[in-house]
Amino acid sequence: MAKQVISTPVIRRLPRYYRFLGELEREHIERISSRELAMRMGLSASQIRQDFNCFGGFGQQGYGYHVKELREIIGNILGVHCKTGVILIGAGNLGKAIASHVDFRKRGCELIGVFDNNPLIQGTSTADLPIMPMESLDNFCKQHHPQVAVLCIPKDAAQQLAEQLISLGINGFWNFSHFDLRITNPDVIVENVHLGDSLLTLAYCMHRHENE
Ligand code: NAI
Repeated sequence: MAKQVISTPVIRRLPRYYRFLGELEREHIERISSRELAMRMGLSASQIRQDFNCFGGFGQQGYGYHVKELREIIGNILGVHCKTGVILIGAGNLGKAIASHVDFRKRGCELIGVFDNNPLIQGTSTADLPIMPMESLDNFCKQHHPQVAVLCIPKDAAQQLAEQLISLGINGFWNFSHFDLRITNPDVIVENVHLGDSLLTLAYCMHRHENE
């Protein structure tokens, strides 16, 4: 069967569907109509139907969606049952916060190594993992084959480090470094995260709302 290509905007909505369906499950709700789900999520019912049609529909006329089943399907699409090895580089304020507060396991990932070039913090630990020196990165990657790197380092260091990491087998970056990585290898996926962009979106929406 041909592999279906799902558009990026739909993919970006999937984690939110997954989260809401998890809440419904915890409330012991077995099924839900697209209209009810839309109301809860602040979307339109037709948007939801269109999104779910991208990967087969699976709603039934007059029945709605089976919550557990739908969550499982979306979870599989998102790969929540994978155990992708993740390393984090830069165990400063942000790196430590991410290592301690992001539930990697729930998202199909496992944080297996933390690295920093500051000798003063090497050997201490964060999220129950020892902070390792950058000199041990090569060996660690050869032994443990992590696929994803979380970059929490200053932006000046990001591009060069990313290239080194790609040569060590990393093919996914969760990049917080405030530098949009330039990666030409089509097999490497980059997710640049700028919390400030989200704040700007909020500020814009508030101004627009005030002016309307
Ligand atoms: P920090 O100074 O507390 O931590 C940075 C850590 O990276 C330090 O422990 C340092 O020793 C280490 N480091 C520096 N160069 C390195 C290298 N080449 N290899 C390995 N480790 C290296 O800074 P903080 O607050 O944790 O921020 C980290 C980065 O994240 C900064 O670039 C900051 O601008 C950015 N940031 C991005 C946000 C976003 O939304 N994307 C939000 C907040 C910060």
